Amino acid sequence: MRKNSFAFCGGAFGDEGKGKIVDMYVDMLSKKGPVIVYRDNGGANAGHTVEVGDTRIALHQLPSGILTENATLVLGKGMVIHPHDLLTEIKDVETAIQGKVTGKIKLDEMATLSLDTHRAFESVLKQWESGGKGSTGRGISPAYADVLLRHPVRVRDIVPFNEKKLTKHYQLYQALIKGLGQSIEKIEVPVLDQKQKTVVVGDLATFLKRLKAAAKKLQPIVCNAVEFLESTWNDTSYSFVFEKAQGLGLDPRWGVYPDVTASDTTFDGIYFASESIIDPNDISVRAAVLKATYMSSVGSRVLPTAMHGPLAEKIREDAHEYGATTKRPRDIAYIDIPALRYFAKVGNVTHLILTHMDIVYLKEKVTICTDYTIDGKKVSYRPDQEYLDKVKPTYAEFEPWAADDLQNVTNPAKLPAAARSYIKMLEKEIGVPVLLITMGPQRRQALFMK
Ligand code: IMP
Repeated sequence: MRKNSFAFCGGAFGDEGKGKIVDMYVDMLSKKGPVIVYRDNGGANAGHTVEVGDTRIALHQLPSGILTENATLVLGKGMVIHPHDLLTEIKDVETAIQGKVTGKIKLDEMATLSLDTHRAFESVLKQWESGGKGSTGRGISPAYADVLLRHPVRVRDIVPFNEKKLTKHYQLYQALIKGLGQSIEKIEVPVLDQKQKTVVVGDLATFLKRLKAAAKKLQPIVCNAVEFLESTWNDTSYSFVFEKAQGLGLDPRWGVYPDVTASDTTFDGIYFASESIIDPNDISVRAAVLKATYMSSVGSRVLPTAMHGPLAEKIREDAHEYGATTKRPRDIAYIDIPALRYFAKVGNVTHLILTHMDIVYLKEKVTICTDYTIDGKKVSYRPDQEYLDKVKPTYAEFEPWAADDLQNVTNPAKLPAAARSYIKMLEKEIGVPVLLITMGPQRRQALFMK
């Protein structure tokens, strides 16, 4: 095990509050020495917010830790990068803190680009009802698909600017979109910009001009991140925090196809993105973050334990369950033990972190699904919608606790008895120990269980 190494992933369908946990760890570790925050998957489909005074900034591609002195943020080879959106994030942070942050960001030259061409193609595909209906529209899967189709464009194709390759890239997407009956020049795609929420892709000259301007600004942060990792991973004066994006239930292999994302959402992705420098099994804590009393999902998947009615609405409002990237209202579901047990197994998870322990109501028992049955026979979770449509969840109820009684507790033994026994039950059912719980958005509203 490599000391001072911690990795966090979403234990279900994303949005479990990883950003806050990563932020807390980065802050804690940065008091002891330099910290590397490494992100290896996803792109502008992810989202979390950081607060600078009264300003809230939405971050999508930058991992947590941008505001922590002593932290270096690495955007790894397994990510898909939208240059313009990344620059907007950097600019927003720099405006808020009135200082520079580019010195602490390292962008791997081998990361794949996810451009306006990909966003346009994804929106056209959606109209053809092909691909994932619930995608965030940020061009994620077309960018990853380019790699499998052997024609990706990478960061090193814009720094230095390879006009010939980028022209071919544009022309390919122009032809694909034309084949589907539309014109790429006229398609509006979402962009991260305070003033302008969409941009028209435009003709080849416009596309190249916009990209060239962004590339010039990104140039100082582009590097061979694998070399950087090699020197720092072997020097234990550096702490490492790995921030996975999305969640285990969105992984293309382990989530319910086709409403899945395109990147590896498990800790295994770190092995590939670091070109085998970092074996995820050497990371001492590999924690899946879960909401303690319910699950949420944004997309078009049909969950076996979907919750409807006033309780779901109350949770959605109390916990602000609206997508950070798309603002869509999130679906709410009862805790689904067969799914979570499966995700913890395939995710190679050593610990659980339970967030939102304060989303609990004294007049409502905490209801969870303990098992699935088909024709009266107990069955396991399988990542297949046709199969999941047949399962019948068995529910069990647990005593609630007063959310206020969680606050200011500094010793797990002093937690309300109902909360303690609920946590124990989850550990037993999912088969992984709970490391930490949180009961509110502030850094101090967290309690280590071990
Ligand atoms: P894509 O990643 O945009 O291709 O979207 C594929 C699926 O993953 C859709 O159901 C999205 O809603 C979902 N998804 C992608 N990123 C996130 C995230 O960060 N949180 C929650 N859901 C996500």
